[in-house]
Amino acid sequence: MSFSNVQAVVLAAGKSARFNTKKTKLCHIICGQELIAYPAKLLTKMHIPTICVVGHQKEDIIATLACHDIPNITYVEQKDAKGTGHALLCSLPSTSAEHILVMNGDVPLITQELLETLLEKHMHEEAAASFIISHSFSPSSSGYGRVVKHGESVEIVETKYNPDAFTESNFINAGIYVFKKSFLDQTLTELAPDPTSGEIFITDLIGAANAQGSRVCTITAPFDTIRGVNNLKDLWAVEHIKRSELITHWMNHGVRFIAAQNVYLDLNVTIENDTVIWPGCILTGNTHIGHGCSIGAYSCITDSTIHDGALIQPHSVIINSIVHQSAEVGPFAKLRSSSVGERAIIGNFVEMNRSSAGARTKAKHLTYMGDTCIGMQANIGAGTITCNFDGISKHKTVIKDRAMIGSNNALIAPITIGKNAVTGAGSVLTEDVPDNAFSVSRSPQSTRDNYSETLRHNTLAKTYPEKSEPQEQAA
Ligand code: UD1
Ligand code: CA
Repeated sequence: MSFSNVQAVVLAAGKSARFNTKKTKLCHIICGQELIAYPAKLLTKMHIPTICVVGHQKEDIIATLACHDIPNITYVEQKDAKGTGHALLCSLPSTSAEHILVMNGDVPLITQELLETLLEKHMHEEAAASFIISHSFSPSSSGYGRVVKHGESVEIVETKYNPDAFTESNFINAGIYVFKKSFLDQTLTELAPDPTSGEIFITDLIGAANAQGSRVCTITAPFDTIRGVNNLKDLWAVEHIKRSELITHWMNHGVRFIAAQNVYLDLNVTIENDTVIWPGCILTGNTHIGHGCSIGAYSCITDSTIHDGALIQPHSVIINSIVHQSAEVGPFAKLRSSSVGERAIIGNFVEMNRSSAGARTKAKHLTYMGDTCIGMQANIGAGTITCNFDGISKHKTVIKDRAMIGSNNALIAPITIGKNAVTGAGSVLTEDVPDNAFSVSRSPQSTRDNYSETLRHNTLAKTYPEKSEPQEQAA
């Protein structure tokens, strides 16, 4: 069905008072995407031009949506948050389509299928007003408007102000409606503010349609698809559902989650089959994980690509980096803006920052590589540090193919270690090492035979002169 005669209005001007945070709830994140982006992106996908009503923190909401690819969105301001009906009223002069789909901005789990069903039924039945309802027995859903039916009549009653409605009906209002534009033009300006709150309620349009004898339609949806987000507990519940959906999707594509309840996954993460995700992993941003990988427990991977067969050991942190095929990283490794070559090993307590390691290169223990480009099959000894920062600027280190850096080297950048070069353990290197050379820089060792007792005695005498006196007498 074509929705070319439909325009959408998303209500996003509320104060988010129940969140108790400085930031509007509409900019809080669910699985890596802001709450307000969920309805906005869904409507874009359905090619329905959208008006977003903004007010409280409008700059933040507009800036948030500008970061997403939403071509067909315009903004209308509701200067004072005088209720959902008032928000819709503010948008009315900007609407022109035959049918107006209105959505609360805080229902992120809603699906395209449900919106299509609502629009189709509304048009098919030529209703003046249609809306989504859901069954809920739970007293914890007392924040929702209740749908109260008496014979042919139907109205929505806000339980906040009329607690009796809660016992009268187990159907709640989802906050998603379709109205005929002609009905809104006639009726919306006539709505009186609620006497208790002083707000104009969009929900009063349903009772008004009924009173006029106009047709009102409903469709029923599962509660978990229409949950609203009014406080941080709702946000947690909704994110939990969203995450379960994402994990189920990847399970259906052959990804093994050892403890799915313990994994955090963003919307834009993609994972190929035969990969195992161990407990406690946090996979965020635009991360892609290839086929047959193992992502070790408590690893955090953000905006990175992990190619097929890579082994990420537990507690690794990988940010904006690439790990090539069959490479091994961790445990306790940290990669920032770096690349690890095919079959390379970046081991425990190794940090790479703006650096690359070529195929089969190994840095297995306790190393820092900053602004460093390492060739293929190089070996970086334990404890090696590239000293890239002189306090003012950063400098580059180049370690060429098959070079072998001895343990505990300090490479003072800028510096180049040539192909096949070898450096001695404990060296502090300030100059380039040519291809095939051996370079060592440390003070020579001196040894004095049978000197250890004398050394101990002299040290004791210096530190505790009073204790050393009697010893001399006794001798
Ligand atoms: C609303 C419905 C309730 C329904 C529930 C579903 C009303 C009066 N009540 O209650 O029947 O069960 O949604 O989730 O509509 N907003 C504005 N301007 C305002 C006030 C709110 O733009 O002046 C926006 C908010 O930013 C939010 C949306 O409207 O995105 C809904 O407002 P909210 O306060 O969350 O309404 P509920 O109390 O949840
Ligand atoms: Ca709400």
